[in-house]
Amino acid sequence: NKGKYEHYMQKEIHEQPESLTTTMRGRLIRGGSCKAKTVLLGGLKDHLKTIRRSRRIVFVGCGTSYNAALAARSIVEELSGIPVTMEIASDLVDRQGPIYREDTAVFVSQSGETADTLLALEYALENGALCVGITNTVGSAIARHTHCGVHINAGCEIGVASTKAYTSQIVVMAMLALAIGADTLSNQARREAIIDGLFYLPRKVKEVLKLDKEMKDLAKLLIAEQSLLVFGRGYNYATALEGALKVKEVALMHSEGILAGEMKHGPLALVDENLPIVVIATRDSCFSKQQSVIQQLHARKGRLIVMCAEGDKASVSVGGSSRVIEVPHVVDCLQPVINVVPLQLLAYHLTVLRGYNVDQPRNLAKSVTTQ
Ligand code: UD1
Ligand code: F6R
Repeated sequence: NKGKYEHYMQKEIHEQPESLTTTMRGRLIRGGSCKAKTVLLGGLKDHLKTIRRSRRIVFVGCGTSYNAALAARSIVEELSGIPVTMEIASDLVDRQGPIYREDTAVFVSQSGETADTLLALEYALENGALCVGITNTVGSAIARHTHCGVHINAGCEIGVASTKAYTSQIVVMAMLALAIGADTLSNQARREAIIDGLFYLPRKVKEVLKLDKEMKDLAKLLIAEQSLLVFGRGYNYATALEGALKVKEVALMHSEGILAGEMKHGPLALVDENLPIVVIATRDSCFSKQQSVIQQLHARKGRLIVMCAEGDKASVSVGGSSRVIEVPHVVDCLQPVINVVPLQLLAYHLTVLRGYNVDQPRNLAKSVTTQ
């Protein structure tokens, strides 16, 4: 049931304040004055000791689910102190990459039925790793075959392009980081700041959704373009990849997410006055580096659309030529949840304006059960 919306993708983008609330329901514990705030993931509580002892955490997924894990990678590393590596499921299987008994392998999948991810799971099970699932589908193959896991509880996702599952996956992996790091005293203030951030997150997502009209106007400007680049780094490299994936899969427009730190190692050659480029420059430890990326792109006459935190317009504008999207500021590791929303809206509007099928892009299936 699409309710007041025209398409499932539109509905699912707009219901993210609610889906994120359900994802967190019963899992965030706000302590009293002297009790620390903490998270409770029922499906993991008996396995946290084993996870904390593992030598490595390996995130495995495809498409949007991989991007969500990438968005959470650094907060998991920071709070757990355990090295985290990333695997695209098909590539892990193709390489028969090393997976050990001392590893915790985390399988991220909205449907829980993706063939590539399932094959990677079988492979990791054979190699003796602790296998953890993060899925939206109770009773799915991945939920059944993993040793333990967390249901993201985002509610049924119908649009082929994953939107609300992406933001809920990131939130669950941030909670996973908090749970693994929960016995480390030195992290306590940081953990509490993140838990506060989680409490406010649905409200901030509601705010960022108000950019709907602005993103529709931007889509009108970009309707006839051949290509769109999205530059991000740090926490928001994943946002760049995910924004580009949305534009490519539903609007059928070439789009590429680029790690801004790689700009000078090739992508800069593409920059001219015609190619539109989104630069994500919200506030975190990479902000000043992104300011310099903006300047360098501007110096090559790049057609920039800059995403920055509210109030930062002046700090990211160069020569008055770039377009600026201001988004609410949240704690750095949760900022990807906010930043992806305008890009989801942009992909949605571009698709509708270009006259393509939003909910069922050509050649794609919601659940990819074949290799
Ligand atoms: C569970 C109940 C929830 C109830 C809550 C109350 C289910 C599905 N969930 O939620 O309805 O409100 O207790 O305390 O009945 N699992 C995997 N692999 C996965 C995902 C999950 O093995 O990919 C396992 C978990 O380890 C756990 C079980 O499935 O044993 C349920 O996981 P989850 O729904 O996340 O647990 P709770 O949040 O505790
Ligand atoms: C993108 C998209 C795909 C899926 C991928 C994995 O919007 O939907 O990239 O993310 O096929 O699917 P799941 O998460 O079901 O394993």
